[in-house]
Amino acid sequence: MMKPDDFEFVSRLIKSKSGLVLSQDKTYLLESRLMPIARKRGLKDLTELIGALRGGDRNLVEEVVDAMTTNESFFFRDTKPFDQFRHVVLPHMIKARAPKKHLRIWCAAASSGQEPYSLAMILDEFKSQLAGWRIDIIGTDISREILTKARAGLYSQFEVQRGLPIGLLVKYFQKKEDQWQISADIRGKVQYKEFNLLEDFRPLGQFDVVYCRNVLIYFDQPTKSDVLSRISALMPDDGFLFLGGAETVLGISDKFKPLARQRGIYQLNRPGAPEVDLTALEKVQAGAAAGGAAGAAAPGGLAFPKPKHMQTGAGTTTGTAARPAAGTTGTTGTATTRPGTSSFGTQSTQRPLGGTTSSTTRPTTGTGTTGSAFSRPSGSTGTGSATRPGTTGTTGSSGTTGSTYRRPLGTGTGTSAGAGGTTQRPGTGSSNTSGSNGTTRPSTTFDRSRFGKPDDKK
Ligand SMILES: C[S@@+](CC[C@H](N)C(=O)[O-])C[C@H]1O[C@@H](n2cnc3c(N)ncnc32)[C@H](O)[C@@H]1O
Repeated sequence: MMKPDDFEFVSRLIKSKSGLVLSQDKTYLLESRLMPIARKRGLKDLTELIGALRGGDRNLVEEVVDAMTTNESFFFRDTKPFDQFRHVVLPHMIKARAPKKHLRIWCAAASSGQEPYSLAMILDEFKSQLAGWRIDIIGTDISREILTKARAGLYSQFEVQRGLPIGLLVKYFQKKEDQWQISADIRGKVQYKEFNLLEDFRPLGQFDVVYCRNVLIYFDQPTKSDVLSRISALMPDDGFLFLGGAETVLGISDKFKPLARQRGIYQLNRPGAPEVDLTALEKVQAGAAAGGAAGAAAPGGLAFPKPKHMQTGAGTTTGTAARPAAGTTGTTGTATTRPGTSSFGTQSTQRPLGGTTSSTTRPTTGTGTTGSAFSRPSGSTGTGSATRPGTTGTTGSSGTTGSTYRRPLGTGTGTSAGAGGTTQRPGTGSSNTSGSNGTTRPSTTFDRSRFGKPDDKK
């Protein structure tokens, strides 16, 4: 057990090096993350490790800071920031930057790369409009280790099941042993750099768009305010800032103001900040609200169903909230994930599902288990079919009208009843049991990173 003055010393050290605030109630977290370092270095216990830290071992300090970062991330996280990018920011920038044909985007806490790669995939869909443009996507993070992973672009089955539409998995990823690697082309669109948000930003240059999501939550108020102020200094009047769902500028910085009627996206609080057209975005958002659009941001159509451990009734304590989806009438408990987005691109539309027939193809694994999850593209009605990689399924028959739908973590509320389409799903057989009838889904605000579990470390 760590002594109070050791905790005090280490937490101060970590804050001074990274801005991360560790309150006393995080002693267990500190211990659980430092013990593996002590073991790896052949140190007897945490007292010895802290002794080495006190002695000024710089490599060890870096390792300890890295160990205390929470690197939770996933593709198209929270949906909205990517809808907002696609339907508001990009159309604005395509017009405004037409003379220069140069756009610079900064993911200021890029972690394992899902955020910048999500943006790169969106941008790739706009490539005809962006022909001849130079687009810089810079992903920075304090953690060297996580950037190695980001650069490799290798993700587990679990990671690609979180928020990544199946269409995009098929289009941009290749299977590599038991992992998925994002294409060299998309990887090549993102540059990564180790960078601490406490450092001077000026060497990074100017940015039109900044994603600084889910990192300020770990800082204290003066640090948040300082970071926001320094970010604003890098941005032109018509720039856009994205923050995480639990973050805001309100009461912290007057350099930015929220974009009207939207959350998580901010403009510079300057006279030159333009009025932007929200029509297309609001249409998409209304569609998502009406249709319970899983993967609304997802140009490739569908989000994967939630992994088993994230579904309620799976015997885990992941903090999910179980509740039946509004308006569902299904009795089999079959859960179908499908998007409200019928097409990708500037004009993607969303609609509630209108199919009336339902024939579902699925692997034999999980047969008879309530809560099995299926996906199909929204563009198909009735008998459209979607094939996903690794499918080994055999025909089953549990899809019925009124099957319920499963949303990706953190997406909007609302679901739609009705089912249709012939669907095949991957043969992973790992994510299709929830053990409860009807739909269970996680709280929209649930984020493992906030709970600081040791297994959050990648
Ligand atoms: C929870 S992740 C957020 C990832 C991504 N932005 C998202 O929203 O999915 C937070 C990241 O912030 C990084 N981080 C923490 N302190 C930092 C600092 N002082 N400078 C740069 N990155 C930092 C961590 O290493 C971690 O990868």
